[in-house]
Amino acid sequence: MSVETHEYINGLRPGPLTREIPECMRDKYTVLQSIMDIALFLAIGIANIIQAIYRTIVGYPKKDLKGKIALVTGGGGGLGSLIALRLARLGCTIVLWDINKQGLEDTVKLVKGIGGKCTGYVVDLAKKEDIYRVAKQVDREVGKVNLLINNAGVVSGRYLLDTPDHLIQRTFDVNILAHFWTVKAFLPSMIEKNDGHIVTIASMAGYVGVSKLVDYCSSKAAACGFDESLRLELQDKGVKGVKTSLICPFFIRSTGMFDDVNSRFLPQLSSNDVADRVVLSIRTNEPFALIPGIFRIMICLRWLVPYQVVGDFIRLMIPDASPVDHAAISPSLPTVPSDGTPHVKHESRPMSLVPPERHDRQV
Ligand SMILES: NC(=O)c1ccc[n+]([C@@H]2O[C@H](COP(=O)([O-])OP(=O)(O)OC[C@H]3O[C@@H](n4cnc5c(N)ncnc54)[C@H](O)[C@@H]3O)[C@@H](O)[C@H]2O)c1
Repeated sequence: MSVETHEYINGLRPGPLTREIPECMRDKYTVLQSIMDIALFLAIGIANIIQAIYRTIVGYPKKDLKGKIALVTGGGGGLGSLIALRLARLGCTIVLWDINKQGLEDTVKLVKGIGGKCTGYVVDLAKKEDIYRVAKQVDREVGKVNLLINNAGVVSGRYLLDTPDHLIQRTFDVNILAHFWTVKAFLPSMIEKNDGHIVTIASMAGYVGVSKLVDYCSSKAAACGFDESLRLELQDKGVKGVKTSLICPFFIRSTGMFDDVNSRFLPQLSSNDVADRVVLSIRTNEPFALIPGIFRIMICLRWLVPYQVVGDFIRLMIPDASPVDHAAISPSLPTVPSDGTPHVKHESRPMSLVPPERHDRQV
């Protein structure tokens, strides 16, 4: 009896087809509409592919960034300071956010040294309130931000079970949640002016899992998802003037974050080359950049070969992804160091060690 009542909807017995189709799909699109949509999608898709081939051959037009206000998080060192120097050369007013006061002061000096305008703000990106408070301050003191480069990042670099909870929390706070708060703070004025660019510095680790980087890889995978979803939301809303770029580099040398990483076969990237590529992506509105480009092929291949091959390949290439030699710091690897200072890498090599003329390249 009860089986029979379940078979009926509003007193009618559904036919075999109706039962298969979920409620939300029924009667929404006609067959003709679907055929037209697919035909239109294919036509636009082919046109885009042809345009991309043409642009790859003749080059993409480059945006003029003169007079724009660019905010670089984690700009007090590493990749952030190199990006800031390049944007300053192109005529941007630079705003730097970092937790590292000394690093900020060094970068502000470097930017001013090449004739740029630059202000540094000490911000802890793990604190939402700090982000919203200083965002308002920037708005008042410098102006409306046009380019937001979410670059700051941290890594703990331990096996998951050896990573204290607060470091996992911090990785997510800085590497992804901060992107939500900065974007919520600065996107409205970009939409209002129909002019803006949001750059997400993620990592190849957003596409590939690596041992000892469980928290890092998952936070970077979230950053990849963040960028793509945001881009589609902006398209949905018809916002044409605000662009987004996702940057996924392999390990970079000389920034401080992954200097001690043991990577075989593929050399670590030059920080200057990555900074050049970030600025190029902004200027050409490139939606995403995998660096080096060979990873585009590798990412496709990973879904085509048996997983064991993928796992073996990752382990062969990156025998140890720990950015810090914890055994050297403390042979017994305490979960929480006695002085309370986490062994987390979030301070950078002072970029003043890099000769200033290395920042001269125009991209
Ligand atoms: N170095 C690499 O091999 C590599 C590879 C791929 C992606 N990335 C990504 O590139 C970005 C830049 O990395 P990097 O190599 O220049 O690292 P880095 O450690 O040299 O620089 C990171 C910057 O973020 C700042 N920062 C950290 N925590 C902060 C906080 N709570 N609030 C404010 N600022 C904070 C640090 O002070 C530092 O200036 C990161 O997002 C990183 O994940 C780096």
